[in-house]
Amino acid sequence: MDLPIRPRRLRASASLRALTRETDLSPDRLIYPVFLHGDDADTPLASLPGLTRWSLDGLVGEAKRVRSLGINSVVLFPKVEDRLKTTDGRESFNPDGLIPRAVAMLKDADPDLLVITDVALDPYSSDGHDGIVGPAGNVLNDETVEVLVQQAVAQARAGADIISPSDMMDGRVGAIRAALDADGHEDVAIMSYTAKYASAYYGPFRGALDSAPKSGDKLGYQMQPANVREALREVALDVAEGADIVMVKPAGPYLDVLRAVADASPVPVAAYQVSGEYLMIAAASAAGWLDEDKVILESLTGIRRAGADMILTYYAPRAAQLLG
Ligand code: PBG
Repeated sequence: MDLPIRPRRLRASASLRALTRETDLSPDRLIYPVFLHGDDADTPLASLPGLTRWSLDGLVGEAKRVRSLGINSVVLFPKVEDRLKTTDGRESFNPDGLIPRAVAMLKDADPDLLVITDVALDPYSSDGHDGIVGPAGNVLNDETVEVLVQQAVAQARAGADIISPSDMMDGRVGAIRAALDADGHEDVAIMSYTAKYASAYYGPFRGALDSAPKSGDKLGYQMQPANVREALREVALDVAEGADIVMVKPAGPYLDVLRAVADASPVPVAAYQVSGEYLMIAAASAAGWLDEDKVILESLTGIRRAGADMILTYYAPRAAQLLG
């Protein structure tokens, strides 16, 4: 054939492919979400096979293990005892609560580990919602924000490096920024769940924390899956309110949103490969239908390629091992 242009020339060897690679994936781009509880046992999670709900001591050990693999950031999700759950979620700002204790222990053991904390009421709410449920059954915005700022300050006081509101209330980023600054935490960053969709892919996560809504769904505050323009509106608001990092969640089914947000955002962009995405890969691999290691790296590369600077993934340690 008379073919002067042959794209395959650059695919011919591993070295050529490495030289022409457009997207890099490295462990320092990964954030590891971890589950914890106040029990002494490290408990395997029935709803998320392969993952564990850690005791405080177990969590410190796990953080040490993943740091040796090159993972520098963790985000903490607590399972709170039922007796501590209330309609107003006030356990969320208890300075002696599970999360402040865990943050202090982790930073004490390893000051260079980046500890990220989640701001939302669902683990603490007897209604299983991210905010306070009003008499009409909807989640109240401004009343919820008043609790969230106290939660954020309690986390910052315990030593959290990055505060990460996942609740989707309007105006919470600005309110949290102001409260952090007023309490002397000007250097604590905010990673906002900016475009967080009301997604069925969160099901296994809610099983892990026993935090599913007791009634209704989250469509009154999380975004509807059909929208992308609205995500850009959320980006503009969060950036104006002082968000340091914006996030798209879930990641894999929303790569077009991620691309749009990455093109529009003046601040770094995170994407969350959520529990349902993890499980689809893990379950199909356990059945022998997918090559787990290859699909992990391909899915994370796709998320990076779509515009994520950093990725929250339950596969962080495994990916780091594969990349090592
Ligand atoms: C709740 C929260 C959820 C996740 C992270 N924070 C669940 C929800 O919004 O219902 C989901 C993460 C996952 O599925 O891996 N504030």
